[in-house]
Amino acid sequence: MKILITGGAGFIGSHTVVEFQQLGHEVWVADNLSNSSSQAIDGIAAITGIRPHFSKTDLCNYSELDALFRQACGFDGIVHFAAFKAVGESVKLPLKYYHNNLLSTIHLLQCMQAHHCTQLVFSSSCTVYGEPVELPVHELSPVLKPLSPYGNTKQIAEEMITDAVATSDLNAIMLRYFNPIGAHETALIGELPIGVPGNLVPYITQTAIGKRDHLKVFGNDYETPDGTCIRDYIHITDLAKAHVVALDRILANKMDAACEVFNIGTGHGNSVLEVIQSFEKVSGQKLNYSFDQRRPGDVPQVWADTTKAQKVLGWKAERTLDEMMLSAWNWELALQKKL
Ligand code: UFG
Repeated sequence: MKILITGGAGFIGSHTVVEFQQLGHEVWVADNLSNSSSQAIDGIAAITGIRPHFSKTDLCNYSELDALFRQACGFDGIVHFAAFKAVGESVKLPLKYYHNNLLSTIHLLQCMQAHHCTQLVFSSSCTVYGEPVELPVHELSPVLKPLSPYGNTKQIAEEMITDAVATSDLNAIMLRYFNPIGAHETALIGELPIGVPGNLVPYITQTAIGKRDHLKVFGNDYETPDGTCIRDYIHITDLAKAHVVALDRILANKMDAACEVFNIGTGHGNSVLEVIQSFEKVSGQKLNYSFDQRRPGDVPQVWADTTKAQKVLGWKAERTLDEMMLSAWNWELALQKKL
């Protein structure tokens, strides 16, 4: 199958390209490299022995995207990741996020219609549940006001896709991820945060390697067993594999409805302190950290009900928190060797 992966040079995108290529699919990557690097394409080639077709395409430019569809003579399936993803930045620069994340999705949907491409997997987020009213979060849990413009772009994009499905022959699966962490087992691809990382795990590994002085744990007075926030951390490779099974389901005409939603997590929550303990155990490093104020906008705790993905997609996360932290650490060590 010929698969287009938008944002395929990014963190989740690059791992997903690997999974599709390892199954023999022909992958085309469209990425404007605004928040990613062509190093990821080199890493994909080193892992799989195949360099994906790469096009430095900005999805906000319709003609560039249209030219890519023409060059490829259409696609059998599309996985759409391309988006800005920094929650904090989106609060400061909301229009940047609405412009980029929504216009790119509109153009992709328009281009798919124009070129009769009808199979889409969309990269969504558990942020669409806002501050959850029940735990674990189920796909039928209410979609509440997201806590950031970034989250709002995911919610609006889901609505746009739902409306496009209702009025065309588009079939779409939207995957709502929880907290993707870790790196490929080869340490040839991983997360490449630009500047100071906003997320917990790259901040931990960068602190341990000496790039950062110490980690601030945002809040230890939450109503959780150890007082720190709880998240459902999922290994990036498990997450990437979910895209393969989702697209398979669409291509095999197995969908129960033309638009389906799945939670993609492990179904377990871990606190910030548990993540730190796991890191210290697998890396043998003592992490320098201190407790700090709560971070505005943080949900105290969230984890997924993944029953639907298990039953319907036949997909289940396999890797443990220790495996996630070890792969993240090995990636940080590999990055240091490259310097
Ligand atoms: N944390 C710290 N110190 C840090 C960074 C994070 O204590 O330096 C804590 C946070 O307070 C939170 C936990 O670590 O309790 C996880 O924080 P992340 O920033 O790694 O992840 P978030 O849960 O805030 O955000 C993630 C994705 C978003 C997505 C969101 C949905 O990064 O893209 O989940 O809930 F929108």
